[in-house]
Amino acid sequence: MRFKQLIPGLGALTLIASHSSLGWSASPFIPPSVPLAVRTPYLSAWLPQGAGTALNDAWPTFWTGSTLGWAGYIAVDGQAYTFLGDPGGVDGTEKALQKSLQFTATQSVFVLTAGTIDLTVTFLSPVEPDDLVKQSLPFSYLALSAVSNDGKAHSVQLYTDISAEWVSGDDSLTVNWTISVGDILVHQVQLEDQSLFTEASDHIQHGSAYYATEWSANTTYQIGQDVIVRQQFVSSRILRNTQDTAYRAVSDDWPVFAFAHDLGIVTGATTPIVIAVGHARDPAIEYIIAGGALQNRSLYFWSQFSSVGSAISSFLTDYTAALARAQAFDSKVQSDASKISTEYAAIVALSIRQTFGAIEITISSGSNKQWNTSDVMVFMKEISSDGNVNTVDVIFPAWPAFLYANPTLGKYLLLPLFEYQATGQYPNKWSIHDMGASYPKALGHNDGNDEPMPLEESGNMLIMTLSYIQKTQDFSLISRYTGLLDQWTQFLVAEALIPANQISTDDFAGSLANQTNLAIKGIIGIRAMAEIASLLGDDTKNKNYTSIAASYVQQWQPLALSKDGTHLTLSYGNDRSWGLAYNLFADRLLGTNLFPQSIYDIEAAWYATVADSFGVPLDTRHTYTKSDWQMFTAATLATTSATLRDALISGVHNYASAALESNSEPLGDWYETLNGDVEGFRARPVVGGHLALLVLS
Ligand SMILES: *[C@@H]1O[C@H](CO)[C@@H](O)[C@H](O)[C@H]1NC(C)=O
Ligand SMILES: *[C@@H]1O[C@H](CO)[C@@H](O)[C@H](O)[C@H]1NC(C)=O
Ligand SMILES: *[C@@H]1O[C@H](CO)[C@@H](O)[C@H](O)[C@H]1NC(C)=O
Ligand SMILES: *[C@@H]1O[C@H](CO)[C@@H](O)[C@H](O)[C@H]1NC(C)=O
Ligand SMILES: *[C@@H]1O[C@H](CO)[C@@H](O)[C@H](O)[C@H]1NC(C)=O
Ligand SMILES: *[C@@H]1O[C@H](CO)[C@@H](O)[C@H](O)[C@H]1NC(C)=O
Repeated sequence: MRFKQLIPGLGALTLIASHSSLGWSASPFIPPSVPLAVRTPYLSAWLPQGAGTALNDAWPTFWTGSTLGWAGYIAVDGQAYTFLGDPGGVDGTEKALQKSLQFTATQSVFVLTAGTIDLTVTFLSPVEPDDLVKQSLPFSYLALSAVSNDGKAHSVQLYTDISAEWVSGDDSLTVNWTISVGDILVHQVQLEDQSLFTEASDHIQHGSAYYATEWSANTTYQIGQDVIVRQQFVSSRILRNTQDTAYRAVSDDWPVFAFAHDLGIVTGATTPIVIAVGHARDPAIEYIIAGGALQNRSLYFWSQFSSVGSAISSFLTDYTAALARAQAFDSKVQSDASKISTEYAAIVALSIRQTFGAIEITISSGSNKQWNTSDVMVFMKEISSDGNVNTVDVIFPAWPAFLYANPTLGKYLLLPLFEYQATGQYPNKWSIHDMGASYPKALGHNDGNDEPMPLEESGNMLIMTLSYIQKTQDFSLISRYTGLLDQWTQFLVAEALIPANQISTDDFAGSLANQTNLAIKGIIGIRAMAEIASLLGDDTKNKNYTSIAASYVQQWQPLALSKDGTHLTLSYGNDRSWGLAYNLFADRLLGTNLFPQSIYDIEAAWYATVADSFGVPLDTRHTYTKSDWQMFTAATLATTSATLRDALISGVHNYASAALESNSEPLGDWYETLNGDVEGFRARPVVGGHLALLVLS
């Protein structure tokens, strides 16, 4: 059975996957988990899929897999149907039947049939790379539109609620709540015991969850026990505009925060009912400044709004415009990525919300107590591998997404690292690994005991800095932080050619001496500094580093190649070893052409002989791989072998679209090439690296 469901406003469909056993279609495919509301490390709601799960067959979950109560019913001529979540304990309901799922870069759209009405459920998580205010609003849209499917008129009411699971990782904690009623209706729920900058099970224990909609005469609300509020709607199709004020634990008679919308008599498609869901806190980030002092940082949107309520109000009224911007962004991504291939466009679409959902844009309050919009810093949570803040080797793989969408966001991600190290508090001569062990505390590492990846991070900082300037012509980073950049380069000059025993970014694979791929990164880092010196007018330094890098490439080749010359080794002298030499990507990105074409030819030929159905293994130590590094490799070798490029894309595509029972996690970048099973990582921003092919011109 093949469905061809065209969803209005989503542009041309690419590929329609048919899943006749499920009874619904997925376009472009069934991902391991569908992004629903994914905008910050703490607003991260997904629908786990496995082999395919309808919107009303499971509860949405936080990225960790814990439940986020989010329920929806539609009543048609008096009969209620569940369309969202898996609520039980309510009499007289049926289940709507899902017809389709489609995702784009910013939207996940479900169509379900509830008797004689079709309901379109749109989850829009805006990606607003050019608007710091809008990108920093920690809210996401749910939009609901009904249409008759038998040409006749029907009475339709809609119901949705969220539970207090949106505010805590611990269901035994007590929450309290309010509803504010005005031009907009806003449910606000928070932990009674707030704990600043503290997480429990990766949820922040500070701030509030919000569920809001515009007021109309046909909108009602209620707060109370889940089964009571839901039964109220199912039986009466209207809520009571009341709140239960017995504040209690999240799981104690599960308080829910509900809205009902009466659409009246429906024939043609209705204007969407729009609901905002979000989580806001203030301050958002704790950041170390000079002399060990700590600074509170707030989300950028505070520069424009004096309360969360006014921010939500603006967010709700902006829906039509936000949708138009999202559609334009989705179309651009689709059109750019489709020039590579249809499979590639699908991978990119799935990766973008996940990348942007790991960052928060912040400002400080200036010495004059006004918001200082000249002091912008972006913070990124590593997510799942650990909770580190602004991990350099996590920003590096994600970098293509920022270069593509707006390189200035990349600069704002690097600034916290540069500024902190410029205070002189970090004691090591190489680049720091991260800004803090646990988000959202960016407290640095004054003891120098951060995870040691000296070559990796020093090379990364130099490469990202130069690529930022090449895209923007903005010299501010290199003029302000010349000293640090040169210090890291001197470290690379000493250490890059013969890498000591150390870990690379792929720390899960263990440490190793003489890593061929690490040497590549270090050598390109030296060359990047040569370019930076030239931009700063320092010809002596430019010549020195250019000649050192060139000489290292000459010395590196015989060390790095297997004796028979068929491939690069994983580590010098181990002829039977090999690995993805994804660091060559930087040579292409920066246009430095340091490494001879023969190296690219050799690698392209070699990978073609070792690809499994789900891609090329990371290296000879294991059969697993990384999706980001495969896309870096595909980009690197795209002009050498389009066939290999497409094979690498297919490997990642086969994995992301496999719809395996065992894989229900927000897209994991680390997986098994033999069977497509996911390894430990999920929801990480490194999938921004899937955009690598879009940033090489
Ligand atoms: C809820 O708890 C917060 C945090 O302790 C407190 O500031 C607020 O006043 C409480 N609200 C209500 C309605 O009790
Ligand atoms: C509000 O509900 C009434 C009663 O169901 C209906 O007649 C009317 O069309 C609805 N109005 C809007 C704006 O949806
Ligand atoms: C940060 O904000 C908290 C909560 O408002 C406050 O108690 C603390 O003093 C602030 N810290 C600084 C350094 O301003
Ligand atoms: C605002 O931030 C910039 C950049 O950090 C800084 O130079 C400036 O002094 C700050 N202004 C105030 C008023 O604090
Ligand atoms: C080139 O750079 C290296 C590493 O910083 C330094 O040791 C050397 O003295 C420099 N040579 C010249 C000619 O500047
Ligand atoms: C690393 O490679 C160099 C050059 O081949 C060699 O001299 C050195 O022994 C190697 N180090 C280790 C730990 O194998």
